[in-house]
Amino acid sequence: MAKRRTDLARAGRSTGGTRRKTALSPYYTTSIGEAYLGDSLDVMAKLPSESVNLIVTSPPFPLTFRKKKPYSSVGEDTFVSWFTPYAQQFRRLLKTDGSLVVDLGGVWNKGVPTRSLYQYRLLLALCDQVGFHLAQDFYWYNPAALPGPAEWVNVRRLRVKCAVNQVFWLGKTEWPKATNRGVLQPYSADMLRLITKGYKAKARPSGHNITAKFQQDRGGSIPPNLIEIGNNDSNGHYLKACAAADLPVHPARFPRGLPEFFIRLCTTPGDSVLDPFAGSNVTGEAAERLGRRWVAIELAEDFLRGSRYRFSSVPVLPLDVADRRA
Ligand SMILES: C[S@@+](CC[C@H](N)C(=O)[O-])C[C@H]1O[C@@H](n2cnc3c(N)ncnc32)[C@H](O)[C@@H]1O
Repeated sequence: MAKRRTDLARAGRSTGGTRRKTALSPYYTTSIGEAYLGDSLDVMAKLPSESVNLIVTSPPFPLTFRKKKPYSSVGEDTFVSWFTPYAQQFRRLLKTDGSLVVDLGGVWNKGVPTRSLYQYRLLLALCDQVGFHLAQDFYWYNPAALPGPAEWVNVRRLRVKCAVNQVFWLGKTEWPKATNRGVLQPYSADMLRLITKGYKAKARPSGHNITAKFQQDRGGSIPPNLIEIGNNDSNGHYLKACAAADLPVHPARFPRGLPEFFIRLCTTPGDSVLDPFAGSNVTGEAAERLGRRWVAIELAEDFLRGSRYRFSSVPVLPLDVADRRA
């Protein structure tokens, strides 16, 4: 553990090696991960520069702010100015070839069937003001998404179901570390047939020149920037364990496949992954399974407490003991 935690062990120490007054103390750890309770702006300020390979996160969307969920009181109109100091810390923490991946749900404007432009404003600010580079924009398609808002979609039938989130992959530089070999998908039945039976090299009507190289088995097909993963887990270990412990299940989890995709795309085993808005720490679980070091930061203690159930090695304290610690 001590060896693996080198980067974080340095956190809270000045360059001279003396400990700052406010050293970091994790809420729980695994052999390769650390979860912190607190405002990520405060916690990140104590982490060393250029210590993180990948930040993958889903910040609280303005929608949740508006509904006054326990996350924050920031509104859609002030989202960008609220997020900017966090983004500046992200950039400081990332290694030169590091990546930031931000999952953002869309938001409806109040009282009218039009959509907020907050994601686009955020993207422009991240690139033009903070200095990130858009490596690629992705869509996460959740086929299990429910229709809404009811007024526009179900009642007046003016709009259709929203089932995609925008996911921006940004590099600290224009050349973030990446390999699509980490995210190859199984070949389709048609492609497998071409590989085994062969393909006559020719120019397609579209103008694409399909050469004999096309039929080589390269280990899988290159995925598109549309990631399809249903977000309908209703029976997982985390859910059951939270229910048994009478802890709230996080209401805005993303599926493990989402952080897993970007961890595979942008990192190699042993690299470090940070989620500064960790919620139920899906990112930490994905990183742990893939052998990447991870750091999770979450503001709400109940969510962080429940997230321990994702890690079999983490002793789950009886609630009264956890309460005394808190
Ligand atoms: C959309 S949720 C993340 C859910 C997470 N991806 C998951 O799958 O469980 C955003 C989380 O950010 C947390 N949060 C909001 N402001 C924060 C802050 N300043 N520092 C740390 N966490 C914060 C909220 O409590 C909430 O759990």
